[in-house]
Amino acid sequence: MWSGTPLFPENASTMASRVDHLYFFLVALTAFFSILIAGLIVFYAIKYRRRHPESVGGRIHGGLILEITWSVIPLIITMGIFVWGASVFFAMSRPPDETLNIYVVGKQWMWKFQHLDGQREINELHVPVGRPVKLIMTSEDVIHDVYIPAFRTKADVIPGRYSQIWFEPTRPGSYHLFCAEYCGTQHSGMIGQVVVMEQDDYQTWLSGGAQEGSLASAGQKLFADLACNTCHRPDAQGRGPVLENLFGKTVTLQPGGTVVVDEAYIRESIVNPAAKIAAGFQPIMPAFQGLVSEEDLLELIEYVKSLRTETPIGQTARPTAAGPAAGENTPANRPGARN
Ligand code: CUA
Repeated sequence: MWSGTPLFPENASTMASRVDHLYFFLVALTAFFSILIAGLIVFYAIKYRRRHPESVGGRIHGGLILEITWSVIPLIITMGIFVWGASVFFAMSRPPDETLNIYVVGKQWMWKFQHLDGQREINELHVPVGRPVKLIMTSEDVIHDVYIPAFRTKADVIPGRYSQIWFEPTRPGSYHLFCAEYCGTQHSGMIGQVVVMEQDDYQTWLSGGAQEGSLASAGQKLFADLACNTCHRPDAQGRGPVLENLFGKTVTLQPGGTVVVDEAYIRESIVNPAAKIAAGFQPIMPAFQGLVSEEDLLELIEYVKSLRTETPIGQTARPTAAGPAAGENTPANRPGARN
């Protein structure tokens, strides 16, 4: 109802209405109590005004029922807000099982988007309508923040970490993308467009992109160029851990403890391998900090994710290097999958 209002963003994702309803409820609630309290102050100020210069008000010694009432009613209201807000928050922070994954790298002062099929974009992101999209985001330098008002979604983009947001666009169009964290001189210019396309148009757009091959295949090449494959071999004869079927597994560490192999752990194991050594291996891997860019890291991560030889239930085995269909986040390889 408000989408035509200037200053109010369009409603273009499945989450937008849920956020708006909560927002309008909070505004209405705040307005109601503000008007009620201000009105009562004025009303009682007039009603109990001093009529004679020597009149004095009677003493009040509290009222149990009154105090319970004004404690319980706000408690119920605030708990309602909490439960409602938490349910929206959980929905926003838990991506569905099947998402279209896109990597995002922020840097002063641009957004770089990397599709799993290999397409790269700067300050422009093409996505299909009606499909959940997950952005896996990191920064090359300082903290940035992805903000897409029409989708009511926003999250910090932090160097050395992967943060995630997801959204499902509901209507084709072009929507603003902002950096919402002050990040230097050109912060205000760190803007872009999210272009939501019909499924067919999106497929056309995908196939019209640069045919550089998938992100995983670029990672495979880099893996060989950096000679990672001399130690990480599929036959368990290498000096480093076997990477096949590793993603999503829980690994035991040298000093004890475990870690789940997700994007963050792979990234750390490349830039600073000594941080968490898998049990049974020597800390001999050189650190690649400064030698590989954030985009190289994403390629390597995608490659490791694609190394799957086992057959998930109900699916046929796929060749390893190609991995699951690029761009797909199947239940078997989604980051949350735990074996
Ligand atoms: Cu990037 Cu502000």
